[in-house]
Amino acid sequence: MPVLKRIGTLVTCHPQGGQADIHLVPGAALVWEGETIRWVGPESDLPAQYADRESWDADGALVIPGLIDCHTHLAFGGWRAEEFEQRIQGSSYLDIARRGGGIMSTVAQTRTMSEDALLDRARGFLEGIMALGVTTVECKSGYGLDVEIELRLLRVYHRLGQEGAARIIPTFLGAHVVPPEFRDRREDYIKLLIEELIPLVTAQRLARFCDAFVEETAFTVPEARRILSAGKAAGLGAKLHADQLSSCGGAELAAEVKAVSADHLECVSPAGIAAMAKSGTVAVSLPLASLYLNHAPLPARRLIEAGVPVAVATDFNPGSAPSYHLPLALSLACATQRMTPAEALKGDSFTIAVIGGDSVADELNKLIAQHAIKNLPIRVRSIDAARQAIDAQILYVGPQYTGNVQQLTESLATLPILIVTDLPSGLDDGGTVNFMIVDRRVRFEVSLAAAQRAGIKVSSELLAVAARVRGSSLLSDPGCVPALKSFDSFSSCIERVAAAL
Ligand code: NIG
Ligand code: FE
Repeated sequence: MPVLKRIGTLVTCHPQGGQADIHLVPGAALVWEGETIRWVGPESDLPAQYADRESWDADGALVIPGLIDCHTHLAFGGWRAEEFEQRIQGSSYLDIARRGGGIMSTVAQTRTMSEDALLDRARGFLEGIMALGVTTVECKSGYGLDVEIELRLLRVYHRLGQEGAARIIPTFLGAHVVPPEFRDRREDYIKLLIEELIPLVTAQRLARFCDAFVEETAFTVPEARRILSAGKAAGLGAKLHADQLSSCGGAELAAEVKAVSADHLECVSPAGIAAMAKSGTVAVSLPLASLYLNHAPLPARRLIEAGVPVAVATDFNPGSAPSYHLPLALSLACATQRMTPAEALKGDSFTIAVIGGDSVADELNKLIAQHAIKNLPIRVRSIDAARQAIDAQILYVGPQYTGNVQQLTESLATLPILIVTDLPSGLDDGGTVNFMIVDRRVRFEVSLAAAQRAGIKVSSELLAVAARVRGSSLLSDPGCVPALKSFDSFSSCIERVAAAL
């Protein structure tokens, strides 16, 4: 169990915190064992049991949690340095794309490469990315644009993930552009995506998300809507390349399909911002793409002020963002978009995921419009599968959930997610908090065993207003006796639950 000593500043980010909620510990030490951090804090408080362990010297450096690059196009053939020069000489990204360059030129170069050659190259990039402090990388396909090569790119990501050096989140981007062989048969390509590729990708479990590029040279809003909806129906979360070069309704579509994120947004409209705030869709800022294309960056302050969380990523690709330097992207987000360093580093919010209860999601959204919980930006996200809840602090399982609740709670049991159910057997099925209607009033019961399994401490304020506490033998403070409380509305009840977390 080694100890890292002489840390200049240690940054911690609590999962419950908001966009800028980071904590600085000066003069810190950190104790770890394998992949688990056992202790962090001021070095002067280092417990005696660790004092004579093997020690490493941080030499005054800053220590932060592993960074996440949530938007890359990691596997591709060739580079497009000549386009950088063409842009300097006056051609725009769209001019180059219309001439058959841009994404299509990378597609041609990618199609000539074997799976092993693509894997070797992507692994080399990944090593450079990890040397910058990044531990999780989202990776998109989108340079194959046919059945064989799209699956090949996703298999490369699968193999990289299996190698285990970094956490890889694969995204299917068959809807990057329409390839030339389908130029006069767009509809056939969309059918190929929906009827052939999405089913193959999901059957082989090769992707977590489905992405599409909405732009004049790529896909229209109605086309992207069909593709993302087919992806969602097959269990893939939605993401979108939206409003990068023109304001074309991408953010509005992302909100409509409840995409987890809308990325780029340099040209997002006020209506798009409002729609994203309502749907809980995260904005992803890609300052390196704005820099290389010499575009004004996304309006981060307007998004944050409207209640849309803004994350920062690289967009690493061979054309519009030929750099995987996430720390540089974070610095650019601060310098050119006026995000604070804390906002750029954290890029997160308090998330309530809702499954089987769309009307509850609507009610929660209204509640959020009125006030924030614990002064944090909150987003409410409707999801279709348990695994989409992994970044949430609360998961609400409503009566319209048609799956097996026990299996759902089991699959998330050890994650720090408060599972709130609204079902007759909610606690028996593994929920932590269960709502009940008694005499037309809302009440809730709490399972301390479920909370313990998830590593959640239930505050005594919450227990004091619960109608029933199951497993009160687990209480460290037996003086806390639940009073039979009830609430006028579901919103006031869930607000009370969230505030007491
Ligand atoms: O995110 N905008 C569309 N796709 C990529 C560009 C990829 C490329 O130019 O090769 C992007 O910027
Ligand atoms: Fe991209």
